[in-house]
Amino acid sequence: MSELSVNHLLGIKYLTREDIELIFHTADHFKEVINRPIKKVPSLRDITIANLFFENSTRTRLSFELAEKRLSADVVNFSAASSSVKKGETLIDTVSNILSMKVDMVVMRHPNPGAGVFLSQHVNASIVNAGDGAHEHPTQALLDSYSIRERLGSVEGKKVVIVGDILHSRVALSNIFALRLQGAQVKVCGPKTLMPRYIESLGVEVETDLRQALQWCDVANMLRIQNERMDISYFPSIREYTQLFQVNRAMLESIDKPIVIMHPGPINRGVEITSEVADSDQAIILDQVENGVAIRMAVIYLLASKIKHT
Ligand code: CP
Repeated sequence: MSELSVNHLLGIKYLTREDIELIFHTADHFKEVINRPIKKVPSLRDITIANLFFENSTRTRLSFELAEKRLSADVVNFSAASSSVKKGETLIDTVSNILSMKVDMVVMRHPNPGAGVFLSQHVNASIVNAGDGAHEHPTQALLDSYSIRERLGSVEGKKVVIVGDILHSRVALSNIFALRLQGAQVKVCGPKTLMPRYIESLGVEVETDLRQALQWCDVANMLRIQNERMDISYFPSIREYTQLFQVNRAMLESIDKPIVIMHPGPINRGVEITSEVADSDQAIILDQVENGVAIRMAVIYLLASKIKHT
């Protein structure tokens, strides 16, 4: 297969396993490119990309911008906080105005689930979802699986536990879709109050005992508590949460095998993970960030190759 089955990257649930394999194969090439002294290829000199961020971001925003620049695309950046959105302009009007400046692709982070799908139905540009509320974060899940493949050789057959605030996490949902599509076994672990009611219908098991979950898995993907999406308390205190769901050195020493530790960032050090573990050789957190650039180069390159210039 030489092209994606989709014209937009709106979520992992719209991809096939072959799409993921094509993205990884393409990312392998771009990973080699970004480790050269000259980290740039001229592939997308005829493409203009707008990065629209309606929500805060460090890693995703910088990673997309670097990926676009490494491919020689023209790039414009938009932040809702300093835009005319503050004067009441709608999403469609904002994007239509940007597209009339001859933009080919839109990378968008938005607090509303489904914002990318909505946009793809109303504007004539390729849309990449950089995170839509608590719905999906497809490039994060792709870079996570790519990092597992890099560390353990493959994703198929691996046992992955996702730990923390599953209810509010787009990273969890996209990872569940991506890992299951590639033949991994997935468990989720955290307080019952932070588990969506439908979670088992996605083909994952719930484990509320962190030690049992770590003993079972090959990989633990640690998530932070998403306080910004909470309007009530879901557990008594952070102290109690850390006692039950924090990965620390003592917890890792109490299981009888080495496991790989992942985190999408931002980390709340001392809450879901201690610094000792986050900075250890078992953790591949900065490898995930490095791989994010290659994965986003691959996604943008493959989507751009489907854009017909008239
Ligand atoms: N992992 C991730 O999406 O981080 P940012 O919110 O900093 O982009």
